[in-house]
Amino acid sequence: MPHELIEKLTQHGQRISALLEAILAAQASSGAPQRLLDAMAYAALGGGKRLRPFLLVETAALFGRRDDGVLFAGAALECIHSYSLVHDDLPALDNDDLRRGRKTTHIAFDEETAILVGDALQTLAFELIADDRVHRDAAVRLKLVSGLAKAAGASGMVGGQMLDLCAEGRRGATPPQPTEHSIKSMQSMKTGALLRYACIAGADLADCSESDRSVLARFGDIIGLAFQLADDILDRTADTATLGKGAGKDAAAGKATLVDFMGLDAAKIHLNRQIEEAHALLAEYGSAAETLKQTASFIANRTS
Ligand code: IPE
Ligand code: IPE
Ligand code: MG
Ligand code: MG
Ligand code: MG
Repeated sequence: MPHELIEKLTQHGQRISALLEAILAAQASSGAPQRLLDAMAYAALGGGKRLRPFLLVETAALFGRRDDGVLFAGAALECIHSYSLVHDDLPALDNDDLRRGRKTTHIAFDEETAILVGDALQTLAFELIADDRVHRDAAVRLKLVSGLAKAAGASGMVGGQMLDLCAEGRRGATPPQPTEHSIKSMQSMKTGALLRYACIAGADLADCSESDRSVLARFGDIIGLAFQLADDILDRTADTATLGKGAGKDAAAGKATLVDFMGLDAAKIHLNRQIEEAHALLAEYGSAAETLKQTASFIANRTS
């Protein structure tokens, strides 16, 4: 893994964390209950790779936008992502007690608080993405708000989470045998939608052309699928201490994954192909897209 990418990711993670910390502190003065704020900070600030805001910021930078307003959009996306993790870990969903190397929010606090943390992080995300520092043009901000709602909602992350539960056979009718297509479409919703949004929001923040926007949307689609495939491979191959979350749980829970469907070796080959495809898409931008290309490789080669 290139050393400079790790350094950039770390520095960027610190900037996003500092911004989120300041935003949560400001909420205290507008009457938000301290317990809720503490739990929101616990969920949003403790660890995490900050990969979605990083992709957003780096995509905006590729098209020439580098000011701090971009960070508000990144922080908004990280709030949605952190909320999705808090709810994903609840006993009613994946029932996990470890996240980012420490207790999940419902264990560190309680289930009721964890539900409310998710609700509050979600609405905070919309407050942040609508901030006028995000983009001077209100029409662009509206596009970003509406895009985030779609990416997070019933036809995006939340819809994918529903399909994930249905594929386990826990809800609704007995699930049909998963196919490569059904697994990929569930994963492109539950995980891909937010990663795709990171790329198209970055492009929109920088007012890029329609054709550049489509290239970045396609790049987001591919790395979104690759991200969940890598996550599923890590669930099978990594240990809990390295991952910072419970390993080896997907098969036991009956999750529909490509690792299960095609086998570990084929899944790894598939993942490498996806990353090659993602790199090829960015070839037209030359060395300006080096960080995004390295990020695509990082998605496949990460250890946690
Ligand atoms: C984990 O996402 C959840 C999935 C979509 C698979 P990340 O691996 O990006 O989680 P953090 O933010 O780094 O903890
Ligand atoms: C979760 O997928 C995707 C979300 C929308 C949160 P997983 O259930 O595989 O994520 P982990 O493994 O718990 O991080
Ligand atoms: Mg899950
Ligand atoms: Mg989970
Ligand atoms: Mg997983």
